[in-house]
Amino acid sequence: MQVCYRYCYLTMVTCVIMVCMYLVFLSPADELTEDICACKHCVRQQSRSTWFNELYDLSIPPLLTRENYMLSGDVYKYWKDLQKNTNEANYTEVVERLFSLFPDNEHYLDAGPARCRICAVVGNSGNLKGSQYGHLIDLHDFVIRINKGPTEGYEKDVGSKTTHRFIYPESAMDVDNTTHLVLSPFKILDMEWLISAFTTKNITRTYKKVRPSVNANRHKVMILHPAFIKYVHEIWLLKHGKYPSTGFLAIIFALHICDQISAFGFGADQYGNWYHYFEKTAYNLRTGAHSGSFEFDTMMQLYLEYKIQVFRGR
Ligand code: C5P
Repeated sequence: MQVCYRYCYLTMVTCVIMVCMYLVFLSPADELTEDICACKHCVRQQSRSTWFNELYDLSIPPLLTRENYMLSGDVYKYWKDLQKNTNEANYTEVVERLFSLFPDNEHYLDAGPARCRICAVVGNSGNLKGSQYGHLIDLHDFVIRINKGPTEGYEKDVGSKTTHRFIYPESAMDVDNTTHLVLSPFKILDMEWLISAFTTKNITRTYKKVRPSVNANRHKVMILHPAFIKYVHEIWLLKHGKYPSTGFLAIIFALHICDQISAFGFGADQYGNWYHYFEKTAYNLRTGAHSGSFEFDTMMQLYLEYKIQVFRGR
């Protein structure tokens, strides 16, 4: 009798495993991939989980243009509430000045069956130290770096290619002529700083001292849309943290403009420490204004649903 129970139990477990394997690896959804993009896996492919399908909203524009700059009441309120000092600058005027200086293109509308765009998003975690990921990172079509994360002197671990660098005024650094400087505007003053950095250079302070200028190709500058910041914070992060980290914004940006995504340099190192690969950081990167752990857990969920690859480093 006991042998029979054990036999039935094993048969049931085997059946459950086979059904799961069928759902994960063999279900017909995979056959649709080639209509969506030319990669093996396409991030735009409908997920079997409602979690991803409900959060992923391609109608939200990642980048600001003259055409889409108007903010709905709730986006404007969200964005205004992020700003500590009420800046009286007129948003429409600031946008006009922005697009008299920087390109006003609709970028990355080329998704389709012929495109396979593979992107690396490189965070600044200390787990990159000694990882030897440099060569692998440079093989990606787009390499998106964040804030002050340097490449010089760290090429073996982080690579040398940078196609996009996400910054805000307080984290700005120079980029070469080929790199897209992508501003995350957490406040209207950030947009004004960008204008000043390429013209008068007279903004030297926001809530702290900032660089008056930045070396970058003016024709490659991009500005994240405030509606995108709200979407990432409220929909993806369920309002955890005061606002999203630049790194997490870059991950969701990649989900919107790339077909396959690899994330490097996120989270703690193997000993549980959260710091930068290029310096010993005194403050705790896990908490603070951002919710490092919620962001990392969300990334791991994306990984479990085959939406991104996560390279954990050392
Ligand atoms: O610290 P910083 O914001 O410059 O780092 C860039 C991004 O890298 C962060 O926004 C965060 O998403 C990620 N990061 C991380 N773990 C660390 C350091 C940074 O996930 N230990």
